[in-house]
Amino acid sequence: MWNSLLIIAYSWLPIIHALDNGLALTPPMGWLSWERFECNTNCREDPDNCIGERLVMQMADRMAQDGFLAAGYEYIALDDCWPARDRDPKGNILPDPERFPHGMKALADYVHSLGLKLGLYADVGRHTCAGFPGSLDHYEQDSNTFAEWGVDMVKFDGCNTDEQHFEIGYPLFGFYLNKTRRPIMYSCEWALYARAKGFKANYTAVAETCNTFRVYGDIWDNYESIQSISKWYADDEGNFSAVAAPGSFNDADMLVIGNYGLSKDGAKSQMGFWAMVASPLLMSVDLRTIDTFSKELLQNKRVLKINQDPLGVQGKAIIQFLDGNLQVWTRPLSARGSFAIAIVYLLQVGQPLRTSFSLKQLGLTHQRGYNFTEVFDGGHFGSFKPNENITSFVNPSGIVLLTAEPLN
Ligand SMILES: *[C@@H]1O[C@H](CO)[C@@H](O)[C@H](O)[C@H]1NC(C)=O
Ligand SMILES: *[C@@H]1O[C@H](CO)[C@@H](O)[C@H](O)[C@H]1NC(C)=O
Ligand SMILES: *[C@@H]1O[C@H](CO)[C@@H](O)[C@H](O)[C@H]1NC(C)=O
Ligand SMILES: *[C@@H]1O[C@H](CO)[C@@H](O)[C@H](O)[C@H]1NC(C)=O
Ligand SMILES: *[C@@H]1O[C@H](CO)[C@@H](O)[C@H](O)[C@H]1NC(C)=O
Repeated sequence: MWNSLLIIAYSWLPIIHALDNGLALTPPMGWLSWERFECNTNCREDPDNCIGERLVMQMADRMAQDGFLAAGYEYIALDDCWPARDRDPKGNILPDPERFPHGMKALADYVHSLGLKLGLYADVGRHTCAGFPGSLDHYEQDSNTFAEWGVDMVKFDGCNTDEQHFEIGYPLFGFYLNKTRRPIMYSCEWALYARAKGFKANYTAVAETCNTFRVYGDIWDNYESIQSISKWYADDEGNFSAVAAPGSFNDADMLVIGNYGLSKDGAKSQMGFWAMVASPLLMSVDLRTIDTFSKELLQNKRVLKINQDPLGVQGKAIIQFLDGNLQVWTRPLSARGSFAIAIVYLLQVGQPLRTSFSLKQLGLTHQRGYNFTEVFDGGHFGSFKPNENITSFVNPSGIVLLTAEPLN
């Protein structure tokens, strides 16, 4: 009896090796400084936007007071450019004393007092990408420093080292993070840099080592960037979608919603697509001035529910037309037999495109049919049987996002 149950369980469960530190059981959500604030260290002339404690505290206040924390955005993370140019005489890494006059421990305390978690950035090599001290030869020391400060997440970048070093450096730093005994969410750039340097990333090894891992180039504040990420995910190089699971998620990079480059359709496309592929949701936007449309989109409960589905399966592009510019994605959800479905139209020309697909074609075969909901506005989309079609119009650079629940 037990044996046969086990055999049944193992025959359909994929064998997943995720980092087992109890963190990132669903894709982590938060705020990350890079895309919007980059390496602005000019606090003298641009005090409101430079990388420093003031920026973090102001963003943390907005996250806690404006509904972002309640919606699930809990990490507030600094990217490159927070450290001082040099380590102290004992080799300890330090925050820049002018931009972080109260030190990192005090900042972590402040962030924690609001119910948020603090993220910091470090690098596997000798220097960070922007030339600040990297962690090479200091992995244990820096892990201990971060734990003492009360850091809850580390983004570990991949600049300024030999690519051969990744498969040693990333697991070794992870080993020291674990050794601190503080739960620290570990976000890596390993797969991305391996690819960028012409190596084949071993996604299985990356997923065993890191909670989240960037897989593709840096996002820019425009729709073309989202287009290229969607196409790359649709190709599913090396079947990287298969390693996504509770504890380990492919990271499609920051959300740029609310900045300068996306139309409303483009913003919905990013939000919906990041939900379909179970990506971490790290906003990089000025929360002090964000517009209402973007804020409501980032906090849309139905979209977030797809992203945060506890099954943790990454959706796949099951149909592609028009040279990959019309993609239909499905993602199985934890509610029995339910799916999320996205119809993504990547071209930026003309008028809304009429699309029509039979449920069978989408892999929805439940005989009694399904009840469909339009996700962004929550409206009822209709009920359909497997031999029937769902028909919709999708805008240029737009997305139609649906959920389908099996009918009894
Ligand atoms: C350290 O690793 C062990 C073994 O994978 C795991 O059980 C534990 O939760 C980890 N602890 C931390 C703090 O990451
Ligand atoms: C990839 O990593 C996994 C897990 O560490 C290992 O078992 C496998 O042999 C590696 N594959 C290759 C091609 O190196
Ligand atoms: C990816 O999966 C497909 C089918 O599921 C399989 O044919 C292919 O060999 C796999 N590729 C890799 C690199 O695992
Ligand atoms: C229904 O979908 C199929 C593709 O599955 C398509 O060929 C057909 O034209 C659609 N029917 C209508 C009425 O749109
Ligand atoms: C179908 O979904 C709508 C929301 O889209 C809901 O109001 C309705 O109760 C559902 N119907 C059934 C039969 O589940």
